[in-house]
Amino acid sequence: MALGFCIGVALLLSLWSRAETAGIPDGVLRMECHDRYFMIAVDISFTGDEPHFEAVDETGAYAITQQYAAQCGYSINVHPLPGHVELRASYFSCQTQNKDDEMFTFNFNLNVTQEGKEVTYPLQDKTCSPSVPWSPREVTCETNYMEVSVRSEVTCPSGTKKDDWNSLKPAHRSTTSDWQVMFQTDDEQLAPINISDARKQGYAFLLTEGRLVFRAPYGQPESFSTEVNGVPVEAVHATIFSRQSWVVLMVDLVAACSMDEGLYNESGYMLWETPEMLYPNLDGQQIKVGLKGELVAQPVAEERGYIVGKQNNTIQICIPENAEGRYRKSAVEDDLYEFYVYHLYLEQILVDEDRVETRIRSLRTLATPLLPSPIFAENQTVLEENMFTAYLGDVPEDVQLAAVHLNGQEFTVPLSVSSFIITKVVHPNNTHGYKLKVPFEDPVVLQQFSKTDALHYILNINYTLTVLPEKDLYYHMESVVALVTDASPPQFDAVCTESGISFKLDHRPFDYLWEITIDSDLLTSELADQHGYIMSNDSNSLLLEVPLFSRGYEYKNVSLKGFFGTFEIIMRDRETSEVQGSTIKTCPFSPTELIMCSTDGRMTVVADLALAIPNGGNAARTNLRDKYCGPKETDGSRALFSFSLNSCGATVKLNSENVTYENEIFYSKKLPRPSQVVSDNAKERVTMQCTYPLAGLHRLFSVHRFESDAVGIGGLLHTTHPAADLQSPTIQPTSALTTTLATTTLAATRRATGSYKPALHPPSRHVKVTRFRYPANGRFRYPANASYRYIWPTLNKGVRQSLQTKLNAAHI
Ligand SMILES: *[C@@H]1O[C@H](CO)[C@@H](O)[C@H](O)[C@H]1NC(C)=O
Ligand SMILES: *[C@@H]1O[C@H](CO)[C@@H](O)[C@H](O)[C@H]1NC(C)=O
Ligand SMILES: *[C@@H]1O[C@H](CO)[C@@H](O)[C@H](O)[C@H]1NC(C)=O
Ligand SMILES: *[C@@H]1O[C@H](CO)[C@@H](O)[C@H](O)[C@H]1NC(C)=O
Ligand SMILES: *[C@@H]1O[C@H](CO)[C@@H](O)[C@H](O)[C@H]1NC(C)=O
Ligand SMILES: *[C@@H]1O[C@H](CO)[C@@H](O)[C@H](O)[C@H]1NC(C)=O
Ligand SMILES: *[C@@H]1O[C@H](CO)[C@@H](O)[C@H](O)[C@H]1NC(C)=O
Ligand SMILES: *[C@@H]1O[C@H](CO)[C@@H](O)[C@H](O)[C@H]1NC(C)=O
Ligand SMILES: *[C@@H]1O[C@H](CO)[C@@H](O)[C@H](O)[C@H]1NC(C)=O
Ligand SMILES: *[C@@H]1O[C@H](CO)[C@@H](O)[C@H](O)[C@H]1NC(C)=O
Ligand SMILES: *[C@@H]1O[C@H](CO)[C@@H](O)[C@H](O)[C@H]1NC(C)=O
Repeated sequence: MALGFCIGVALLLSLWSRAETAGIPDGVLRMECHDRYFMIAVDISFTGDEPHFEAVDETGAYAITQQYAAQCGYSINVHPLPGHVELRASYFSCQTQNKDDEMFTFNFNLNVTQEGKEVTYPLQDKTCSPSVPWSPREVTCETNYMEVSVRSEVTCPSGTKKDDWNSLKPAHRSTTSDWQVMFQTDDEQLAPINISDARKQGYAFLLTEGRLVFRAPYGQPESFSTEVNGVPVEAVHATIFSRQSWVVLMVDLVAACSMDEGLYNESGYMLWETPEMLYPNLDGQQIKVGLKGELVAQPVAEERGYIVGKQNNTIQICIPENAEGRYRKSAVEDDLYEFYVYHLYLEQILVDEDRVETRIRSLRTLATPLLPSPIFAENQTVLEENMFTAYLGDVPEDVQLAAVHLNGQEFTVPLSVSSFIITKVVHPNNTHGYKLKVPFEDPVVLQQFSKTDALHYILNINYTLTVLPEKDLYYHMESVVALVTDASPPQFDAVCTESGISFKLDHRPFDYLWEITIDSDLLTSELADQHGYIMSNDSNSLLLEVPLFSRGYEYKNVSLKGFFGTFEIIMRDRETSEVQGSTIKTCPFSPTELIMCSTDGRMTVVADLALAIPNGGNAARTNLRDKYCGPKETDGSRALFSFSLNSCGATVKLNSENVTYENEIFYSKKLPRPSQVVSDNAKERVTMQCTYPLAGLHRLFSVHRFESDAVGIGGLLHTTHPAADLQSPTIQPTSALTTTLATTTLAATRRATGSYKPALHPPSRHVKVTRFRYPANGRFRYPANASYRYIWPTLNKGVRQSLQTKLNAAHI
């Protein structure tokens, strides 16, 4: 390898000229002129997995096969991560049109298989002029070939020694003027062959305007591999010569390339080495380095984190892991891994003692081994938000979330309409994350109660991630559990007010587990309206005002002093409706007057009779229409009556919807002793009514029991009647106003003219029965003494019809 070259060569090996073709696919193609090569990058999405290029010159289009590429100066590399196929063509590649070594025109066809057919796209030809002038000798270590070009006019190096000529003996012995090639391996000199034979063996020779080019694929039998300072090297050494009578013209062509595949070290550096003394007698390393075809001077590279050093006579290039221009790729191999790919580009400029320059360019693809790429899952749940927040972080950019399994149920991403959400969070460090939010109450969440009133929400998440573009699947499991302690049924705070009971409930996140009912009816705003409750509900609390006598109260110990009203709110399991808790509040009430119409057919009345009895009269001497029905209790002017609706001389009125029982309070003029005179100056009549909707009655005419779905609507009527005959059963109320229950309070508003008191509701004691219950014998029997006999003839035809229908229905 000690030979320089000294003889000026001016040969014409061949001359090519070329025609040009054009044709551009849209948007997916990039063509770039670089200092020493021309590059075409095409998106894989367009080319598919196996694109074919053809190099075109005037003689035709040549398919660039692997072998042809290495011989003719082409290099095709597939880069999956950026997703393109890259073709690099040497300026001295076979089909390139070369004008004075200054302008180079490239022309290619791209063959793409589309819908099963191979379509040829002629790419527009492109002309490049290298911005960096050619050095006297240039060596390119491409990924698939070595290329050396020398200036064809050079002066003999000053130190040519006689010894060097020994190796030329075969040239001297040559008898032909034809150009011959002689390969030298490390230790032997091979017999010369002619150029055309050498071409057949895969070598390329080219003479341009000013340069002689020699190209050899790697791994040729005539090249040799060795180790220099522990670095693998491949070299090819060809001497071409021609004996022209007494002169031997010869050129020594040598290319040596470091075959180091790089080493990844734990500090995150990719190390690549090349022997310092690859080319003997050359000195003065000047290094430029970069990735993806970019070259920057050593100081600039070092600023970017590269380390360029010499050790043990080798040059060491250390590329930082995250160097700009590196490619990163994820891979699944049971676990998730990543690796980095570096398309290293290195230029070394060496000079010999005559300061003649050799420029060496190396293009090397280095890859790290598979490095663990851990994805982390974080439980970001905040209990107060009442939902799970699970974060999956450090997801590499080429990995996408395809689906989640939540407690075994699969949901593909992007989610179709659903109560939970997944948001992608992108970070500047090229990772991203997914934030998954699932409300505790989502049906997909598992719930577990423990004995200590603690509630566990459980969410097992199995993330399905795909690595692009090959769509390999990777699963990541996470289980989040949220513990809600004190998951007892809600309890209302209750306060007695003058007019009823006021309930308040502060919402807790998990209260939705229970439903709130009044008796068996779900508490809704409709129910509240219907029953006259005043409900207000916001995100913080629920307020329920239950006015006295509205539906749902139970009354106890009714006396003239007052009574107790009890209201119960029941908490049931949402799923099973099982009663799990309740708030019961009992309050004392003491209205002046009241009337209660119970579901079991009792009317209870407390009436102020001050104006209904003569001056000085005693309420104890009052009675109902049936004079044997007297008050249960009296105090001065007030009296309490409690009696069965159907008894005590009540009148019954029936219309198409309701049945109304009415009675009246009379003052007995019969004196205990005849001598006692009582002036009859009563000013009022007091009548009372209980009205029940027919629809809710089960046993209207039952002998034994009265049974209504709902309490009756009561009315207590004080009618001004100064000179009334209080014993007369003829009743002519001056007004027959039935007050609605909910809104009127019981403060006895006694007006000059008669007015019905607000209706009062005694407890409803039984669970709603919606079907008629037959007697044991299966026949419905009219009770013999039912009041309807009295009222029946007075019913008009339509009313009778409706009642008959109802009764007939009961027969069936
Ligand atoms: C390109 O396609 C054409 C037909 O369209 C075919 O003749 C040619 O051989 C193909 N070249 C390569 C390199 O596949
Ligand atoms: C080159 O040498 C081979 C024999 O080694 C011979 O057959 C062939 O004709 C030669 N080619 C030329 C162009 O001289
Ligand atoms: C990795 O290489 C760099 C650069 O040569 C060096 O500074 C570092 O110490 C090396 N780390 C290890 C663990 O070998
Ligand atoms: C230098 O080379 C010698 C022998 O080849 C070897 O023992 C030594 O470890 C090398 N030093 C470094 C820093 O690589
Ligand atoms: C990327 O950035 C995010 C947000 O700053 C951080 O949480 C995460 O740990 C980073 N990941 C890596 C691998 O540096
Ligand atoms: C996650 O889901 C995938 C696909 O259904 C399944 O093959 C895998 O076993 C699951 N992983 C775990 C830990 O359940
Ligand atoms: C997740 O976060 C919640 C709320 O901070 C906490 O209660 C729970 O214990 C955490 N751990 C797991 C494994 O879910
Ligand atoms: C009250 O509001 C809360 C949320 O604002 C809701 O969850 C709850 O069902 C409501 N309760 C009723 C009885 O309407
Ligand atoms: C209600 O009356 C019953 C007797 O009828 C009595 O035992 C009970 O103590 C009374 N309740 C109240 C709170 O006065
Ligand atoms: C009907 O007669 C029964 C006894 O046969 C009696 O108990 C009931 O009070 C009577 N009903 C009416 C409304 O008079
Ligand atoms: C039945 O009673 C209700 C409640 O008092 C009342 O609204 C309705 O008008 C009554 N129907 C008839 C037909 O009188």
